[in-house]
Amino acid sequence: MTVTTGSAGTLSSTCRPIALTALVLHCCLHEGLAQKEQKFELDIPRVTVEELERNVTLRTGLHAYVLHGFAHKWKAMNWTLDYLMGKIPFEWVDYYPNNMRDVSSKPYLWKFDKAVREFQIPKEFRTGKPKYMQIRLGLRGWKRLKKDFVPKPLPEVFWDDDEWIGSCMSQDGKVDQSAINNFFVTNQWKFLLIGEEGTSMFFHKDGTAASSWQVQLVGKKRWTLCPNSESQLLHTELDTYNPDYSKFPRFAQAACGQVTVSPGELLYYPAYWWHHTLQLESPSISYTGALVGVEADRSDLGTGRKPHMRFYADLQEKCARCWKKGVSQRQCDDISVKWAGAAPPPLRSVCDEYLPKCLELWSVHAKDLHGRKSSGHAEL
Ligand SMILES: *[C@@H]1O[C@H](CO)[C@@H](O)[C@H](O)[C@H]1NC(C)=O
Ligand SMILES: *[C@@H]1O[C@H](CO)[C@@H](O)[C@H](O)[C@H]1NC(C)=O
Repeated sequence: MTVTTGSAGTLSSTCRPIALTALVLHCCLHEGLAQKEQKFELDIPRVTVEELERNVTLRTGLHAYVLHGFAHKWKAMNWTLDYLMGKIPFEWVDYYPNNMRDVSSKPYLWKFDKAVREFQIPKEFRTGKPKYMQIRLGLRGWKRLKKDFVPKPLPEVFWDDDEWIGSCMSQDGKVDQSAINNFFVTNQWKFLLIGEEGTSMFFHKDGTAASSWQVQLVGKKRWTLCPNSESQLLHTELDTYNPDYSKFPRFAQAACGQVTVSPGELLYYPAYWWHHTLQLESPSISYTGALVGVEADRSDLGTGRKPHMRFYADLQEKCARCWKKGVSQRQCDDISVKWAGAAPPPLRSVCDEYLPKCLELWSVHAKDLHGRKSSGHAEL
């Protein structure tokens, strides 16, 4: 039942007009008294690697948490903008000179070295609007940076594409590098995020059912997180840091949490969770990777229960817009032809040949991690 208006003691119009039994009265009084503001009561625990290893609940991958105490050996902890400019000057950037607060914010597509030079313009020459950029790493950029994220904590929990992509995206024993690069850039699989204090990426959930881990390297960042199950109470125009309850009264009822992540900490959240970020310091530098095949079964996905199956369906839906069975001509536009640096369409080989092979690997891994426990059949 939805009660969006009405003060305590009045029956709001959304209550079903049936006999005023004590029960009905109780329900409406109760909801009439329901909180009018979001309290962010969803707990996002901070755990060490050892605590995560032992915690069966968190290891389902179905909860958000912050992991700390593992990154001191990472070279990435010493990253600076100049270091990154030397490593990946060729990568493409979505550059937002005036923040990315709204869905309608439009980026410039620039090479990383140009974007960083612009970002570093001294304060006195600036427009006053804080800047934000997202770098979609391709395979070449990733190869240059991946050594900076060693050693990875709990490799079976943070089981990423380094462990599977070369096995399923290969032909005749040869790894298909261009297919892997295509998978990375079309799915925004690996992202570097750099922003000034006050920048924000608007509230949203991702378009594909992959879970995410984001490690904070420089500066601090605030997060709002809400599970997919709350989607009907949420909206991309909602500013969770300054909610307009006259426009989004239902936000008050959503089970959401907030957490601040500091350098050396990693935030994990499951597929389709809503998230809203706010950089608290300049610069803030973080890296986000996506994961598939690490979550247990869940009940909020509609028809299926397996997140990796849903992820596969999301990708095949994108593929179906570009490739039709028996038709060799591509059916979708390639905007990267017109705008250099924009994401190209998925390759046919990725859609038709490689993804089905990858799905098998994801299934095996999810089963190894969660198999019997999450199947619903208790093992005696
Ligand atoms: C697992 O972590 C959650 C969240 O911090 C906590 O509530 C729960 O008690 C932990 N479970 C165990 C068995 O430690
Ligand atoms: C980071 O820089 C500090 C200071 O230069 C150095 O002592 C440390 O070894 C570096 N850390 C890594 C992991 O490279």
